[in-house]
Amino acid sequence: MNINLQEKFAEQYHKKADAIYFTPGRVNLIGEHIDYNGGLVMPCAISLGTWVAIAPNNDNKFRFKSLNFDVQTAVPSNTINEKDGNLWANYPIGVINEFIKDGKEINGLDFLFYGNIPIGSGLSSSASIEIATAYALNTYFNLGYDKLTLVKIAKSVENDFIGLNSGIMDQFAVTFGEKNKAIVLDCETLKYKMVDVDLGNYVLAIINTNRSRELADSKYNERVAECQTALKLLNEEINLRYLCELTAEKFALHSHVITDKTILNRATHVVKENDRVHLAAKTLNGGDLTAFGRLMYASHESLRTLYEVSGKELDTIVDFCAGYNHVIGARMTGAGFGGCAIALLEKGFEEDFAKHLTDYYVDKIGYPAAIYVSGIGSGPYLITD
Ligand code: GLA
Repeated sequence: MNINLQEKFAEQYHKKADAIYFTPGRVNLIGEHIDYNGGLVMPCAISLGTWVAIAPNNDNKFRFKSLNFDVQTAVPSNTINEKDGNLWANYPIGVINEFIKDGKEINGLDFLFYGNIPIGSGLSSSASIEIATAYALNTYFNLGYDKLTLVKIAKSVENDFIGLNSGIMDQFAVTFGEKNKAIVLDCETLKYKMVDVDLGNYVLAIINTNRSRELADSKYNERVAECQTALKLLNEEINLRYLCELTAEKFALHSHVITDKTILNRATHVVKENDRVHLAAKTLNGGDLTAFGRLMYASHESLRTLYEVSGKELDTIVDFCAGYNHVIGARMTGAGFGGCAIALLEKGFEEDFAKHLTDYYVDKIGYPAAIYVSGIGSGPYLITD
């Protein structure tokens, strides 16, 4: 972190912070729009993330300040169950509300947040701030929640307090991430395996479209509803809890019950993407990065044409990558509708890639994308120095 949060905390609150914690963001390597359909996803934590500094106060209030946002707020503990407009602080407010509803006696705390995940970039800045808050409270007050419970609490904040019907992937990834490993998570059973990510001669490039994700939440909820419609139709013929219980072969036997083309496309993406994750896990285990890269391109194509969550900006990046000799795979990552793409880029070509992609992107889109090379980081921890 290039910021001294202890110093900033003192400037804001005129006292020392008691503790500072870090929680990462995430990228999803493959398995998009799968988590709420009960299938396999493959995210990993990244080195960008959220820091939170905390100290108690005697005012029976929770104060929320952030170095990223001008608007700050203070909430008395008896109104912690109310949303504060569309404010960023709703994420920590929602988490505290869940803890209090669960009978935890927490009160009077000053928070200072700082994040270096670009907001709204699809790298899970929201899951990162939720888990940053949950992890900080759990550790600081020794509340005894296990990691999976923190994940579930954060997900219910997102679903019930914020109003996004998201799956569990983001909160899980930022909590369970480990250095240089991807998580292969079964979103139905929540069983998971950590897989070594040995990129050999390649690095993971993250390319931010810099397109603002307005209306993204309502379109996201629309996709969730479309999958539920597909599931309902399929259930007239077979008994399923989730779309991802179907392999592509089995789906082909029953897909005739879905007559609406859009709904059929959505379900086709889900079923095939889930199969791709199974394959991707094998290729990664076997060290076949080229095959993994091909699956990334196939995933993007399906998200573009069948699931329709990509867009001109993401497609421009992936098109560029497909024509660039030193990239072996690229795709959008996260919910889509803007946000970020990821690419497997040959080491040593970082500058060349950035230059040529920037020219190409500016020419087609009119403003630049942002390019980062990211390490695969680990889940939350206490900052000790
Ligand atoms: C967002 C959601 C996740 C997941 C992805 C798409 O990041 O928060 O739950 O559905 O989109 O894969």
